[in-house]
Formats: sequence, structure tokens, C-alpha cells
Amino acid sequence: MNKCCLVKPNSTDENAIHNLMERWKIFGGRMNPGLLWHFDGNYFEWLRYLTNWENGIDIGEEVPQTLFLLKRDDGAILGAVSIRHYLNHTNIIDGGHLGYGICPEFRGFGYGDIILKLALKKLLEMGIEKVLVTCDFDNYASQKVILNNGGVLENQALDEDGITVNRYWIDNTK
Ligand SMILES: CC(C)(COP(=O)(O)OP(=O)(O)OC[C@H]1O[C@@H](n2cnc3c(N)ncnc32)[C@H](O)[C@@H]1OP(=O)(O)O)[C@@H](O)C(=O)NCCC(=O)NCCS
Repeated sequence: MNKCCLVKPNSTDENAIHNLMERWKIFGGRMNPGLLWHFDGNYFEWLRYLTNWENGIDIGEEVPQTLFLLKRDDGAILGAVSIRHYLNHTNIIDGGHLGYGICPEFRGFGYGDIILKLALKKLLEMGIEKVLVTCDFDNYASQKVILNNGGVLENQALDEDGITVNRYWIDNTK
């Protein structure tokens, strides 16, 4: 498998991001993380929006987040992960430290495992040694990705829509 890394989107990624969004729509499926939804075609506006999120500007009750793209060494963008800088009273129940997604055409090749593994490294660089990851009780692919990365189920909780979510902790020092 080609090598992958996490990179913050920059001015050179405009075409690759347009391509990712179009292909994601064609293949269908839930677009995750949420910061991707806000791309409306204006790339540089979206970059400004991401910078605001990273710096905690105009984010209401939310906590600052940094979006990283999963980039393959041939330049393809396969997915994205959004890392929350800390937990608060809301995301400690549902949301946790991060949300991730792989573009549907690239699913089933092990990239889900890779994106979480690389995100854990980023979290460790931020000093976060105990990582909370949550997912819907029936999101079996995500559950497997979390378990493959050392997740230990603490319990289940209800999110704000009343959907049951599984809450896992990962010891990021191992
Ligand atoms: C969850 C997601 C990231 C997984 O990505 P992926 O690239 O398909 O995952 P992988 O190929 O690395 O597969 C990891 C494991 O999950 C298993 N898996 C994948 N899809 C599955 C499914 N639909 N049902 C059950 N297991 C599944 C794989 O078999 C693999 O298990 P293995 O290690 O025993 O072989 C992807 O499905 C996705 O983007 N979903 C939408 C967004 C989302 O739900 N994000 C998570 C929110 S917390």
C-alpha cells in the first residue's frame, strides 16, 4: 500500500479538494468530519473557515478543531480527520477528541485504520495521552477501526438526537 500522511489543507490543494468533494457526492455516503460539509465550492473561503475553527473564532460553544487531510504519496486525498483540541461537557459524551471519514471509493482498503493511527500521533504531539473516540452503536466499520487502534469501550450514551453512541478510550502512550 502507498504511504500516507496527514496534512493541513493549503493553497496547493484546491483542485484535489474539489475532486474529493465531487467524488464523495458521486459515490454517496455520509461525509465526515463535519468541517467538510461547509465547503461550498469557494476553496479560499473554506480555508479561512478552517483557520477560524483552529483559532476558536466564531465557533460558539464548540471547542477549537484542526482539520487534516489523509494524503497518499501519489497526491490523492483519501479522507479527513478533525481533531478537537480538548474535551468539554458536550463532546465528552458524544464526539470525543476526533471525527474522521474516508471517501467512499477508498473504503475497505485499510485507510480507516491508518487515518486514526496517524491522528493519534497528532494528538500525542499535542500532549493528549488519553483519547476519547465515539461512534454510533451501529457504525460497525468505525467500531472496528477504533478497536484495531486499541480502543476500550467504556459505556454507551445518548447523543443530542437520542441515538446511542459507543464511547471508547485509547491509551495513547502505548
Ligand atoms: C469508518 C470508516 C472511516 C472506515 O474506513 P475504511 O477505510 O473502510 O476502514 P478499513 O478499510 O481500515 O477497515 C477497518 C476494519 O473495519 C472493517 N469494516 C470496514 N467496513 C465495515 C463494515 N461496513 N462493517 C463491518 N466491518 C467493516 C474492515 O473489515 C476492517 O476490519 P479488519 O481489520 O478486521 O480487516 C469509513 O467507513 C467512513 O468514512 N465512514 C463514514 C464516516 C464515519 O462513520 N466516520 C466515523 C465517525 S466516528
